[in-house]
Amino acid sequence: MIHWSLIVSFMGVLVAALGAYCGWFLFPNMVDKKVEENVIIADGSEQYKRFVQLPQPLTFKVYIFNVTNAQRIQQGAIPIVEEIGPYVYRQYRRKKVKHFSRDGSKISYVQDQHFEFDEEASAPYTQSDRIVVLNMHMNAFLQVFEREITDIFQGFANRLNHRLNRTPGVRVLKRLMDRIRGKRKVNFLLLKSKQKFYEI
Ligand SMILES: *[C@@H]1O[C@H](CO)[C@@H](O)[C@H](O)[C@H]1NC(C)=O
Repeated sequence: MIHWSLIVSFMGVLVAALGAYCGWFLFPNMVDKKVEENVIIADGSEQYKRFVQLPQPLTFKVYIFNVTNAQRIQQGAIPIVEEIGPYVYRQYRRKKVKHFSRDGSKISYVQDQHFEFDEEASAPYTQSDRIVVLNMHMNAFLQVFEREITDIFQGFANRLNHRLNRTPGVRVLKRLMDRIRGKRKVNFLLLKSKQKFYEI
C-alpha cells in the first residue's frame, strides 16, 4: 500500500511540474514565437505578403471646394465655395522590395499606388463633373510675388527716407514744419503717408 501511494504522489508531483513547465515556459514561448512569425517581415512570412500588397484596397475619399461664382471673382467679388464630395476611390498599394539589410532590420522598397474610381459609392458625383477651383500654382506664385514686391517697396522706401534725411534742405524743412505744426502732428502725418505707400 505504501508503495502505491508513493508512486501516485510522485506522479502527482511530476504532473504538477509538467503543468508548470507548460504553463510558464512552453506555451508562452510558443505563443510568442507564433506572434513573432506573424508580425515580422521576413521573406515569405504572412506579414511580408501583407506588407507587399494590402489584402484589401483602402477607401480614399476626396472632398473639393467648388467655386460657384468664378465670373464674379474676376470682377473682384469674394469667392463663394461649396463643399462637394465625397468622390470615392479604391486605393491599391503594392510595394516592390528592393533590398533587405543583412540583419533583417531594414528594408528598402518602392511603392506603387493606384486609384480606381468607385462609381457606386461616389454617386451622384461622377468623374466628368465640372468643378471650378482656385489655381493653386498661380495662387502660390501670386503670394510669393506679393511678398517680394512688398519687400522691394519697403527697401526702396527705407532708402528714400534715409536719403531724404541726409539731404540738408529736407532737414531744415522738416524742422520748420515741426515748429509750425507741432512735432506730434507731423509724425502722425508721416506715418500715415508711409502706410499708404505700403498698401500699394
Ligand atoms: C461647380 O460649380 C460650377 C459653377 O462654378 C457649376 O457649374 C458646377 O456644376 C459645380 N459642380 C458641382 C459638382 O456641383
